Amino acid sequence: MHRVMLLNSKGGCGKTTIATNLAGYYASSGKNTVLIDHDGQGSGTHWLTTRPPQAPAIHGIEAYREAIGVTRSFLLRLPENTDRIVIDTPANVQGQQLADLVSRSDSIIVPVLSSQIDIDAASKFMRSFAQLPRVLNGDVRVAVVANRVRTHTVMYLDLERFLTHSGFAFAARLRDTQAYIRAAECGLGIHELRAGGARKDLDQWAPLIAWVEEGASETPDALGTAYCIRPAGKEKATSRQRAFAFSLKAEG
Ligand SMILES: Nc1ncnc2c1ncn2[C@@H]1O[C@H](COP(=O)(O)OP(=O)(O)OP(=O)(O)O)[C@@H](O)[C@H]1O
Ligand SMILES: [Mg+2]
Repeated sequence: MHRVMLLNSKGGCGKTTIATNLAGYYASSGKNTVLIDHDGQGSGTHWLTTRPPQAPAIHGIEAYREAIGVTRSFLLRLPENTDRIVIDTPANVQGQQLADLVSRSDSIIVPVLSSQIDIDAASKFMRSFAQLPRVLNGDVRVAVVANRVRTHTVMYLDLERFLTHSGFAFAARLRDTQAYIRAAECGLGIHELRAGGARKDLDQWAPLIAWVEEGASETPDALGTAYCIRPAGKEKATSRQRAFAFSLKAEG
């Protein structure tokens, strides 16, 4: 069992997009996958509700909800056979909330966009994040990802330089493409699209998945932290999904 968290206090950098695509990848690879949503916006949870019924199930956990009528630890229990846990987090995390989130992860991915505002915000976030004992001691693995990349821009060169010298693994460069938006609209990840989405995008994901899996192979099976169980929903496909041009590889 391995817990991988998407984290960056800067909003809109791609945390939910990468979380849902990673969860989709693991589910379609036959792993028992859980998507934990700590963001009250519920974007990852919403993505799960739009997932076609024939898609491999992903257990969703709405960790941002208040526990009503049961203890929080009961709500935060995981299915016993969980292989991969992907954790989405909100923007603006800091202080105790940041420390709590970091304590719930084995690997952390920090996505960053190529704008001066995003680089400055990520730099500030990473400075405070790097001071957390769990990060300082190397008890959690951390990688940075350049997201929405447009390689031929001056800003991208700045981002490349910033991430290369961040002190963390520079695990992937994901290009800016509508494929993520189209896949998200029907509750899928790009790995689950017929014809595999664009080969270019899958190639860009390969080093990120390899980085997470390297950590997974090192994580002991026992997991102390508890999250809740939510049975995989049997949501009905929306007409939008049915009409949508993309369909699952599994159907083919
Ligand atoms: N590689 C990409 N190519 C194209 N669009 C992208 C890409 N990554 C993210 N987006 C789009 O950028 C927007 C913000 O992404 P996302 O919601 O994943 O960010 P976030 O970090 O989760 O935001 P928040 O902090 O508000 O939770 C979304 O509309 C998403 O579809
Ligand atoms: Mg989000």
